[in-house]
Parts: sequence; structure tokens; C-alpha cells
Amino acid sequence: MIFLFHHFTMLSLIVFSFFSTVLSTAIDRRIPIPAGYVAAPYYPAPHGGWTSDWTESYRKASLIVSNLTLAEKTNITAGTGIFMGRCVGNTGSALRAGIPQLCLQDGPLGLRNSDHNTAFPAGITTGATFDKTLMRARGVALGEEFRGKGVNVYLGPSVGALGRKPRGGRNWEGFGSDPVLQAFGGALTVEGVQSVGVIATIKHLIANEQEQFRMYSLVQPGISSNLDDRTLHELYLWPFAEGVRSGVGSVMIAYNAVNGSACSQNSYLINGVLKDELGFQGFVVSDWLAQISGVASALAGLDLSMPGDIHTIPLLGSSYWMYEYSRSILNGSIPVDRLNDAVTRILATWFQMGQDQNYPPPTFDTNTLNAQGPLYPGALFSPQGVVNEFVNVQANHAEVAREIARDAITLLKNVNSTLPLAQAATLKIFGTDAEKNPDGINSCTDQGCNKGTLGMGWGSGSARYPYMDSPIDAFKARGSNYTFFNTDSFPSNSKPSPGDVAVVFISADSGENYITVENNPGDRTSAGLKAWHNGDKLVQDVAAKYSTVVVVVHTVGPIILEPWHDLPSVKAILFAHLPGQEAGSSLTQVLYGDVSPSGHLPYTIPKSEADYPASLSLVGFQPGQPQDTFTEGLYIDYRHFNKAKITPRYAFGHGLSYTTFSFTNATITPVTPLSSYPPARPAKGSTPAYSTAIPPASEAYWPANFPRIWRYLYSWLEKSDADAAAARASSTTKYPYPAGYSNVQRPGPAAGGAQGGNPALFDTVFSISVRVTNTGKRPGKAVVQLYIQFPESVEVDTPVVQLRDFEKTGVLGVGEGTEVRLRVTRKDVSVWDMEKQNWWVPDTEGEYGVWMGEAVDRLEVRCGSRSGGCEEGVEGPI
Ligand code: NOJ
Repeated sequence: MIFLFHHFTMLSLIVFSFFSTVLSTAIDRRIPIPAGYVAAPYYPAPHGGWTSDWTESYRKASLIVSNLTLAEKTNITAGTGIFMGRCVGNTGSALRAGIPQLCLQDGPLGLRNSDHNTAFPAGITTGATFDKTLMRARGVALGEEFRGKGVNVYLGPSVGALGRKPRGGRNWEGFGSDPVLQAFGGALTVEGVQSVGVIATIKHLIANEQEQFRMYSLVQPGISSNLDDRTLHELYLWPFAEGVRSGVGSVMIAYNAVNGSACSQNSYLINGVLKDELGFQGFVVSDWLAQISGVASALAGLDLSMPGDIHTIPLLGSSYWMYEYSRSILNGSIPVDRLNDAVTRILATWFQMGQDQNYPPPTFDTNTLNAQGPLYPGALFSPQGVVNEFVNVQANHAEVAREIARDAITLLKNVNSTLPLAQAATLKIFGTDAEKNPDGINSCTDQGCNKGTLGMGWGSGSARYPYMDSPIDAFKARGSNYTFFNTDSFPSNSKPSPGDVAVVFISADSGENYITVENNPGDRTSAGLKAWHNGDKLVQDVAAKYSTVVVVVHTVGPIILEPWHDLPSVKAILFAHLPGQEAGSSLTQVLYGDVSPSGHLPYTIPKSEADYPASLSLVGFQPGQPQDTFTEGLYIDYRHFNKAKITPRYAFGHGLSYTTFSFTNATITPVTPLSSYPPARPAKGSTPAYSTAIPPASEAYWPANFPRIWRYLYSWLEKSDADAAAARASSTTKYPYPAGYSNVQRPGPAAGGAQGGNPALFDTVFSISVRVTNTGKRPGKAVVQLYIQFPESVEVDTPVVQLRDFEKTGVLGVGEGTEVRLRVTRKDVSVWDMEKQNWWVPDTEGEYGVWMGEAVDRLEVRCGSRSGGCEEGVEGPI
């Protein structure tokens, strides 16, 4: 049997956890964090079902929940254990009531550890397209593939990590280092995936900005991301809010702590921010083994424990929930309404996506590629059966994948119109990144190596390639006149001729912490922001011998280009990001000018790593709980460079075309008048009502003669256990509830009121239009980026400008123009008022600058909110 790679993930997590028990220290007390950072208690967990768009699904769910037994309910709120089913996560079922097991499967760019699926371009690549239509289309295609394989819950999109730390390992799974770009990428993915009935999971809530030290174990608590409430709201939460506004069905809780409290039991985050303020109606799932307690996590609002096992020694078939949840209900430590709410949330989401109607069961097995195998690979003795049916779900998704890979390609430099290439150009191609991994395109577990063309980073966010269209494949297919040197060291035999164009391929990789690649444990600790495999030297050596050099970079994020950027022969530089399976013809179409490049940078490329604030460095080992304090506040990526007046090598949003565009005839129209605070929120609607009486112990008794599978997680208790628990319910000793605990439902904060927050936050306050004309000599697509500058009168510190909207045009022919419409919402012109806990417009009469352009440092059109006029050709604010 070929055991696939999820085992590897989990085994490495398990081994780590196991050894850590030896050094066990208590984790149940809070470790001090720096002064001023607070995780305030927020109880109780708000009941779901109060927004009108979910009413019908909650009604259907509540009819079922009111007839479930205790053990059926607790069976639905947790996984059946690591490797205890076909998917990376498998919930328990309630078959008597028609509720199947739900299959949860990674990941953001395609089906992980499967077959006959598409390996789509990564999130970062999708972000670089700045194309909302493609973002959504990718989501639809992903949804079709997940549904096609019988996955109920797609474990994506990732919108956190936001990319605060350039070396962070998983930034590439998301869409870029700006909350609004990330928000559009995430929300449109949610909409696409869910449009075909698959539940999307927006992750990882929240501030999971580095890989190392992310997890709680007995040796060490997970890293604490310490951030203030304003930074939380204005940066890290923003994309989650938009995902919730799009109706996302599930939110995954991150491994780390926020302000000292583990996210999986941080009541402020889950109960307060996510469920009450953002009005999230779906269910909250833990990251895998992120749950560290039973009662506390339930009270803090966690709804689904994955994969179900305890986090310390998850090999023995123990759970914080399942049978323990049954016990906690019987002995009265968790109020019955909390369990009812969790189950209702899960089932309502299932109904909301229409999964009660003809939803296919899983037809693949994440644990093996064999047709037959153990049904429960984690059990010592497992029944065997058919586990892989090899259903082909690719359809025509290669097309959208290719379009994204192509339209993401970001042309950074193009001296003397070196590109596009003439078809007859004589090419000398260098670098192992240009051709497929010679060991096999899927030879590394979860893509945990950087060998051959880099199409994605590594970890749970990877997928198996059905094929890899490498750049060399594409040059070959095109009949290019090329010679390829499949090496990362400059070959002595390349025989430069004067007319040659040298094309050098280099790469930079990163991934998830459970795999270390070339000394990088997820984060780019040892590679830093350098090209891998001596890429800098390869470019330098080629540039020393060839007078025309084009550099193609496959990368997870920024790399420092300075060692060769200004060499006279380095004429053109393209970032092709992480193209997935479609690395080849997407690139050659751009290189030869079939299309003009239209990608833009989803992050800043600095001249030196020292140009970032020190607080954005990776946190190394610290005894006790590693502390990561976000002292830079709002000032990450371009917000920092602009404030500190540091000129980067390439600014956020930068991207050249083979043609040029003009932005003219801009208009700004006021729509909704501003008030300092949004109008009062709508009141919560009603939520399902159930009996709050503790159910009889018999509802949790093991059924007679049940054939148990060792290590499988069940929700039943031995009769004696259940009876003993029930007896304790009348004891005077009560569970030590956390500080601030209450079980009285709240009306909800002023900033809430609907999915995503107070609906008035999303009122359009200004609508903007601009005419985009192709003024150059080739067809091409333009991107209009809209940034907001707060009025000078505002005393609150705000970034110089902040991206608030963008649009990409279709292909504009030479001389052709089109009108592009954008909008600014109330939230876009607000700051988070920490005292009032609401969005605040600091100067309703002030003159907001609404800037438009092709990059944050190329803003040439300015509209004024108060003056109501727009100017073109003005000097930008940067
Ligand atoms: C851990 C990762 O952080 C998460 O993104 C993934 O979905 C789960 N493992 C399941 O594989």
C-alpha cells in the first residue's frame, strides 16, 4: 500500500507532541504577555440563525436537532480521529436522522493527495491577477472538483497569513499583503466554491503569521500574536469579515494564541468578534489538533473539533469532545444550549449549501492511491474496501487555471521593449526551474521539495499535479529556437552569440512547518529573501556573458533582486509567481506577446530586508510561550514603506504591460451621506429554541453489541460512566467557569447586525468612474487600483494611502477605451474606534483623497470627496 502524505503530516505532528510530553508543563494557565494586549472574556457563545438569509436552513436544521439523541449530537461536533476515514477530516454521522459523515479536505489551490484533479495556481498568483472575475471563476472550478470527489467542506480559502512577515511560510496560500486584495480574493473564492454547493472554510483565524512555534504541545504553548484591536480590525480581520459577508459556511481557527489566549478557546475572537460582531452563521472548526481543551473551547464558541483527537498524544483514540462532550453535557459543565447551537450551526450550513439533496459521497482516499485499502488506516485492524474510484473532476478547468497563471505574470522591468520576444529569437535557457522535477512531478510528499519548476509551495496547501506543463514543454510546443541548460550553475559550454536572448529561471519556495526543505522549516529561515539554489549567482554569471537577459522568477513572495537587478544586460524581469500545473504556455504566451502581461505585485519588493520594520522578522525560540508583538500596527508592506518614506525596488501593485494606458474623465459621485458612526444596527432575529434540560444518561449509552474499531472516536459512554456523570449534575461543585462567564444571550455589539457586520458599513459612499484607454501599440488589459487617503484634518494616525477597490478591464485594443466603475464604502473611510468598539468616520466633512493608478507609487488621478472634482496627471502621494 502506498501511504500518502497526510499520514506524514500527522505523524510528524504526533511525534512532536509525543516527545513533548516528557517535558510536560502545565498549559492551562495563561502565560504573561506584554502589557496592553488583552483577550477579554466574551460569553456566551452567540446562537446562530438570527440573520434572514439563513432562516430556512436553521429551520430545517432545528427540526432535526430537536430529535437527535445526546450521542448523535456529540458525534456530529467532532472528527472520528486521525486517519479514520477517507478525508483529512471526517465527522461522525447521525444516520438515523439522515445525516452522513462530512468529508473535510484540503486545500486552497486544489484537492490535496488525490488524483485526476487540477493543480490550480496558488492564491498569491490569483491575487496578482487583480481580476475579480478570475478569482470567482477559480472558486467555481475548485468547488466543482471538490464536489465531484464528494468533499463536503473545502478547507480554503486562506486569508491568514496576511503576509505580514515576508519570510512567513504560508503567505502564498493567500492573495497578497493587503487586507482588501486578500478580502476580494477570499470572498470571491467563497462565493465561487459555495455556488456549487460546497462549504468553504475561510482560514486561519487569526494572526497566524509565521509557521514556527505555531502549535500548542506539552513542551510549549503556541506562539502568541499580540495585537491591538484596531490593527486586528483594520488589517487581519478585514478579509474574514468579507468572507462572512459572502456567507462563508465555515471558519477555521488558527493554531496560535492571540494576546495570550489560544485561538481555539479565545472567547473574544470566536464568540465576540466572529459570531457576534461579524454575525457569522456557519460553524467554527479547529485547525488540526489546535483544540487544547474540552469545556473551555466549547464555551468559547468552537463548534467542530478536527480531526477529533487530543492534541498531545493523538494516537490513542482520545478526544476532548465526542464521549467527553457527552459526559460534559450529562454532568452539567457545558450547558445543553451550547451543544445544540454547535450542531445546529453544522447542520444549517449543510442545508444552506443544499447538501441534503443528492450530494455525492467521497470517491477518493487522501491516505492512499490504491484502489483498495483499509477504511480506517489509523486502526490496528481495519476493514478493507474500495477507497479510490479515480473520478476525473478536471473538466475544462485547465483553461481557467492557465488564464490565471498567464494574467498573473507580472512584468517588473522591460528595458528597450526587450519583451515580447520575436518568434525567431535564439534563446539560451538556464536553470532547473524551467523543467519538471526529474524525480517525478509528485515525487515529494506534499510537494516538500524545490526541484524542477516551482508551481506551488509545500504543505497541506499543496495538491498533486495531474501533469506539469513546464516552461520547456511550452518552448518546445511552440517550436522555439532554444537551447536548454538544465543546471543552476553557469555551464561553460553555452557558447554565447551576439543575438542570443538568455532566459534564466530562478525560484524561491516556502511552506508549512511540518516539512523542512533545504533547512527551511516552512518559513524561509535559512533561504531568507534570496533566490534558491544560488539563483543570484546564476543570473550574474549569465549576465556576464550575454547582453540580453530575461529573468523569470517562480516565487512564494518577495525576493531581493539587488544582486543583479541593475546589471546592464538584465533587460527584463518577470514574476510568474506559483502557476500550478500551467507554468508553461501561460508564460510563453506572455514572453512572445500573444498577450500583454497584466499581473501586478500583490506585495512590495524591497531593496533590502533591513527596510522592513524589525517586528516583521520571524520570532525564534523563546522559553515558555514565544511572543510575537505586532508593534508596527497597521504598518506592514506598502503601508510601512510609504510611512517610512523608503523607496522599495518595486512598489505594491507594480506591473508593466507591453502597451500603455491613460486614465481620464474621472468622476466621483456622493451616494450615501456620511455620519460619524453607522446608523443603528438591525436587531438580531430569532434563533431556534430547544429544551435546555439535561438529557437522560441513556442517550449516551453504548448500543448493545456494537463492533468497536480501536482508536476510532465515538460519542458513547459506558453505562456506568454516563450514569456517574448524570449523578454529578446535581452536585454542588460546579465547573470552574472562566472569568466573565455568563449564559445569557446578548443583543450583539453596535458594529454587528448582519453577516460581515453592520450592513450600513457596506453602503457605497462614493461611486467613482474613470475612462481607461489603451494609448500604446498593442492590445492589453489594464488594472485600476483605487486607494483612499484620509483627510489631513484627521488626527488619528492613518496610512498614507490604502487600497480599497480595484478593477481589471477586458482586453483593450489599440486606441480602445472603456469606463471602469469603482466604489468606496463607509467602512473604507472609517477607522476602528477601540473605545466605542465601532467603525468611526473621523471627519465626515473632510476631504478624502480617492487616488487611482496602476500601482501604489503610480497614482496619477485624484478625486476629492468634498470638492467633488477629479484631476489627472497630478503628482501622487507617494
Ligand atoms: C493544518 C493546516 O494549518 C490547515 O490549513 C489544514 O487545513 C489542516 N492542517 C488539515 O490538513
